[in-house]
Amino acid sequence: MSSCDTILRNVRLIDGSGAEPEEADVAIVGDRIHSIGRLHDLAAKNVIDGKGLALAPGFIDVHTHDDTNVIRTPQMLPKLSQGVTTVIVGNCGISASPVTLAGDPPDPMNLLGKAEDFHYPAFADYVAAIAEAKPSVNVAALIGHTALRNNHMDRLDRVATPEEIAAMRAQLQEALDHGALGLSSGLAYLSAISATTEEVIELARPLAASGAIYTTHMRTETEAILDAMREAFRIGNESSVPVVISHLKCAGIDNWGRSGEVLALLESARESQSVNCDCYPYAAGSSTLDLRQIDERVEVMVTWSVPHPEMAGRTVADIANAWGVEQLEAARRLQPAGAIYHSISEEDMRRILQHEATMIGSDGLPNDPLPHPRLWGTFPRVLGRYSRELKLFPLATAVHKMTGLPARRFGIAQRGLLREGYFADMVLFDPAQIEDMATFTEPVQRARGIAGVWVNGVLSYKGTEPTGQRGGRFLPRQKMESVQQ
Ligand code: ZN
Ligand code: CU
Repeated sequence: MSSCDTILRNVRLIDGSGAEPEEADVAIVGDRIHSIGRLHDLAAKNVIDGKGLALAPGFIDVHTHDDTNVIRTPQMLPKLSQGVTTVIVGNCGISASPVTLAGDPPDPMNLLGKAEDFHYPAFADYVAAIAEAKPSVNVAALIGHTALRNNHMDRLDRVATPEEIAAMRAQLQEALDHGALGLSSGLAYLSAISATTEEVIELARPLAASGAIYTTHMRTETEAILDAMREAFRIGNESSVPVVISHLKCAGIDNWGRSGEVLALLESARESQSVNCDCYPYAAGSSTLDLRQIDERVEVMVTWSVPHPEMAGRTVADIANAWGVEQLEAARRLQPAGAIYHSISEEDMRRILQHEATMIGSDGLPNDPLPHPRLWGTFPRVLGRYSRELKLFPLATAVHKMTGLPARRFGIAQRGLLREGYFADMVLFDPAQIEDMATFTEPVQRARGIAGVWVNGVLSYKGTEPTGQRGGRFLPRQKMESVQQ
C-alpha cells in the first residue's frame, strides 16, 4: 500500500514494552497500526507532525468503577482526557452486570449508580448496551463477587450456601462465555466480608478453564494485611488463576512503613504463582464512608451524603465539631455517604508504585460529586510527577505499567503495545509538560500535555477537547491459544 489514512511523522515512540524510546513515523489504516518506521515514501490522507512528542499505546485503566458511566456518559472525558483508551470495569466485587436488584443497590454497589442505572440482568445485555452507546474508550469487564451475591442471596451478612454458590458460578460462567475478563472481590466490605475463603474458591473454579483472572480488594488493608494477601494467593493457587491485588496500600497510620514487608510477601508469592497489583498515585483513598475507618488522627473528607448533602467538602472532624458529637456519631448520621481518607503514607505509596509487579489503576469514582482527584489525574500524575519530576522510574517504565503490562496480565489482545497490525489505540503527549491538574479541592480538571488520543484509529481527543468522534468497543477476554506468556 502506498497510501494510508493517517500518518504521524516525527514522534518519539514509547512502544509499551518498556524499551527505550526511539524516533519513528507511525501509519494508521482503518482501526490498525499499519506500519512503524521511517515511512518517507508513504502518502496519507491525513499527515500529522508529531514534533518530537511522545507516542505511546493508549493507557489501560485497570481499576475503574465506570461500569454504568461508559453507557450513560459515553464521552468519558475524565479518562479520555488523560490518554486512557481502555477501562476495566467491575472492580472491588461490584459490577453493573449481571445484576438484578431488589431495591437500592447495596453498599458499595451504590458507587456505580442509582437503582435505575442497573439494566443488565445478564452480561450479554451489558455487552449489547456498550455496543449501542459506543463510548469513546474501550471497555473490558470483570464480574463482581458482591454483585453475584446480591443476585442470589436474601442477605449479604452470611456465607453463601452450596446452592447459592452454584447459581453464582453458573452466572459467572455465562459472563465468561461472553468475554468477561474474570472475577473481582471486595472482601473488606460488609456486603462480602461474611464470605469465607472457600466461598470465593468455589466460585472461582470456572476461571482457569477460561484463562480468566481473579482481582481482589482484599479483606483488609490494615493490621492483618499480610493475612489478607495470603488469602488472595491461596484463592489464586487453589483455582489456578492469576491474581491481581487491587489498589495495594498500607492503610491506617499504624501501618505506615510496612510497604517493605508487604512487597517482600508479594515477591515470595511471585516465585510460584502469577501475582500483580494495581496502585493509584495518591496518599489518600476514597470509597463509601466506612465507620471502621474513622480515626481521630486521619483526615476524612465527606464527598457526598444522602441525608446531609450540604456537608460535602467538609471533614468528619469539622462536622462532628459543628454538631457537638463524636466523629463516629457524626459519620453514622451522614450515612449513606462517600469519603476521602488521607490514610496512606506517601513513602509507602511510592514504593508500591515503583514495584515491577505494579500496574496503574485510577479507582476513580465517576458518580461522586466531589471525586477524589485520581478520577481525572492518575495517568498524567504518574508520568509527570512520579516519572519526570521525582524520577521514580523512566518514562518508558511508567508507560509499560499502564499499557503492555496490563494488556498481557488481563488478556487484552493486540493492544498495549505499538506494533504493526495491532489496534491503533494511541496517545500523543508532551513528556516535558504532562501534568495532572485535578486537586482535592478542585478535582474536576483536565490534565495538561495530552496532544491527541486515538481509539481504534479514531482521533477522539485533540489538544484539550474531545473531537466528538467515538471509537470505543467492548473488548472480550483474549482467547486462550493466543495468550502471550
Ligand atoms: Zn476497592
Ligand atoms: Cu475500586
